Amino acid sequence: NKSVPFYDQVNQAGIRTPPQRHCVYMTFNLTAGATRQSLQVLLARWSAAISQLVQGRPIGPIEPARPDAVGTDTGEAEGLAPASLTVTVGLGPGVFDDRFDLADKRPALLQPLPRIPGDTLKPELTGGDLSIQACADDPQVAYHAVRNLARMVTSTAQTHWVVLGFGRASAGPGQETPRNLMGFKDGTRNVSSDADYDQFVWLKDAGWMTGGTYQVARKILMTIETWDFDRISDQQRIFGRTKDEGAPLSGEKEFDTPDFALKTDGAHVIDQASHIALAAPENNAGVKILRRGYNFTDGLNDQGLLDAGLLFISYQNDPQHFVDLQAKLGRFDLLNEYIRHVGSAIFAVPPAPKTGRYIAQELFE
Ligand code: HEM
Repeated sequence: NKSVPFYDQVNQAGIRTPPQRHCVYMTFNLTAGATRQSLQVLLARWSAAISQLVQGRPIGPIEPARPDAVGTDTGEAEGLAPASLTVTVGLGPGVFDDRFDLADKRPALLQPLPRIPGDTLKPELTGGDLSIQACADDPQVAYHAVRNLARMVTSTAQTHWVVLGFGRASAGPGQETPRNLMGFKDGTRNVSSDADYDQFVWLKDAGWMTGGTYQVARKILMTIETWDFDRISDQQRIFGRTKDEGAPLSGEKEFDTPDFALKTDGAHVIDQASHIALAAPENNAGVKILRRGYNFTDGLNDQGLLDAGLLFISYQNDPQHFVDLQAKLGRFDLLNEYIRHVGSAIFAVPPAPKTGRYIAQELFE
């Protein structure tokens, strides 16, 4: 029943907020007819609506007084608690194209992601000018938020791609580490301390973007049936961790620090091509990214196989940190045999607005 504040925070909610159970992630493209002013109006209307939604309130009348009027709110969240709803809004590179006269406000590091080795991206799941990440402990609350915000884009934007996430695949303070659809604990070693957030997530001295960050979203398919027939020793070698406890193969307990140098019989105990050996800060000049992903499923694919995977969402104050990590994973990760990156986008996430203001209002001042 918790309600997460929207106004007067330093950072937008939904980033450091302890991961809720469900997520609806949607991107939009601005239409050819969109103008600087219609973008401004959209961000203002979205902000006002989000401030209501996170309190568990409708965004307007569900049952208007005039019988021939259309309801403003669609109604399906009535009677449901706020469920810790957060709605995080991101701005894609296209917002800063010349046509909106915003080029001088472009967040310094916001560029479309380059092609990364191993990518098998589908155009219909790639890019976007705006993103909405709605997370809540009730799936209907998250869906209601996105549905009602999507209704408000009218002729300014159109929906692009969407992922319905369930079962968080990262943990916050006090949360037990959840599991991804491969059955492994996900989020054991993640950004968590104030110092790490300051160093690796939030933008500092970044003008109007100070307190903001960059969001990378990747839709990653898993070949689940094949994975489920892989022997356990191989599964554990791929991640470099045990399945049940989630311990690094060099240790015994989940939170033991992995020892990437440890060898038996001349071979590394944690394979150097394992997911954690390639991704760990120890082997990446100390770099960390905040991972805040969700499991997803789209049912069955056209071959009757489970269509599911990880909606990977990361936050970092330098998108290159993601690019460098993924370039390495994309080439060498043992996990690649069982996954495929099919969707990808990057967004700048502005700081939270003050009361009475709206997200990214600074763009128009
Ligand atoms: C760690 C799963 C994709 C970066 C882990 C762990 C698991 C996991 C089980 C170990 C537990 C933990 O410390 O959280 C997966 C799966 C993926 C995936 C199933 C795809 C379907 C990615 C991607 C990146 C990434 C795309 C970044 C480009 C990391 C990092 C760690 C990690 C930085 C922590 C390593 C450490 O410090 O020990 N992942 N991951 N992962 N993953 Fe992934």
